[in-house]
Amino acid sequence: MEAAILRVDEFTELHPPGVELAGPLFRLIDAQRHYLRHWLEWVDGASGYDDMRKMILDAIRYRAGGQRCTFIIVFQGEVAGSVGFVRIDRSHRKAELGYWLSRNLQGRGIVTRCCRRLIDYAFNELMLNRIIIRAPKQNFPSQGVPRRLGFCHEGTLRQDNQLRGSFYDIELYSLLRKDLALQ
Ligand SMILES: CC(C)(COP(=O)(O)OP(=O)(O)OC[C@H]1O[C@@H](n2cnc3c(N)ncnc32)[C@H](O)[C@@H]1OP(=O)(O)O)[C@@H](O)C(=O)NCCC(=O)NCCS
Repeated sequence: MEAAILRVDEFTELHPPGVELAGPLFRLIDAQRHYLRHWLEWVDGASGYDDMRKMILDAIRYRAGGQRCTFIIVFQGEVAGSVGFVRIDRSHRKAELGYWLSRNLQGRGIVTRCCRRLIDYAFNELMLNRIIIRAPKQNFPSQGVPRRLGFCHEGTLRQDNQLRGSFYDIELYSLLRKDLALQ
C-alpha cells in the first residue's frame, strides 16, 4: 500500500504513520485520555511513549501487509487525531472506517471531510466495494459522521461490544461503491 500524504483541504492532511509522529500523538492522547478512553479501548494500552511508538510500528506493519490503513490527521501543521481503515478484507473488498479527533477541534466537520477523502481513496485506490462504520448506540457524535456522509443505517447489533465490563449495542452503517452514483 503506497504511503503518501493525502490532502483533505487547505488546513488538513492525512499522514501515513511514521515513528516521528509517536511523540506528538502520545502527548495529545495523554492530555485527553480520560475523555478518549470512554470510547476507545486501546487508549489504556498507550500509557507511555514506548507504547505509542510500538502502536505506530504495528500500524506501519499492518499497512504494509494490507490489513489496515491508518492515517494521522494533521490540522494546521499539528497532530490532531487519526482516521483509517481498521479491518481490510481483501477477499470481499470491504473495510471498516474508524476515527478520533482532538476534543478542541470537534464540531467543525474535520473528521467528516477526512472520511470523505478516505472514501474516495478506498473506492478509487484500494478498489474496495463496501465500507462500514460501527458506532456505539450512545455515541451520537460518532454516528453523525456516517449520517452526514450518506451511509445507510443497516441496523443495531445487540451487545456487540464489551468495554470495561459493560456490553454496548452497536449501530452499523455502510456505504457501497454503487451508492456514490446515487448521491
Ligand atoms: C466521533 C468524533 C470524531 C466526531 O467528531 P466531530 O467533530 O463531531 O465530527 P466532525 O469533525 O465531522 O464535525 C461534525 C460537527 O461539526 C459541525 N460542522 C461544522 N462545520 C461543518 C462542515 N463544514 N461540515 C460538516 N460538519 C460541520 C457538524 O454540524 C457537526 O456538529 P454537530 O454534531 O453538533 O451537528 C469525536 O466525537 C471523537 O473523536 N470522539 C471520541 C472518539 C470516538 O468516539 N471515536 C469513534 C468511535 S466509534
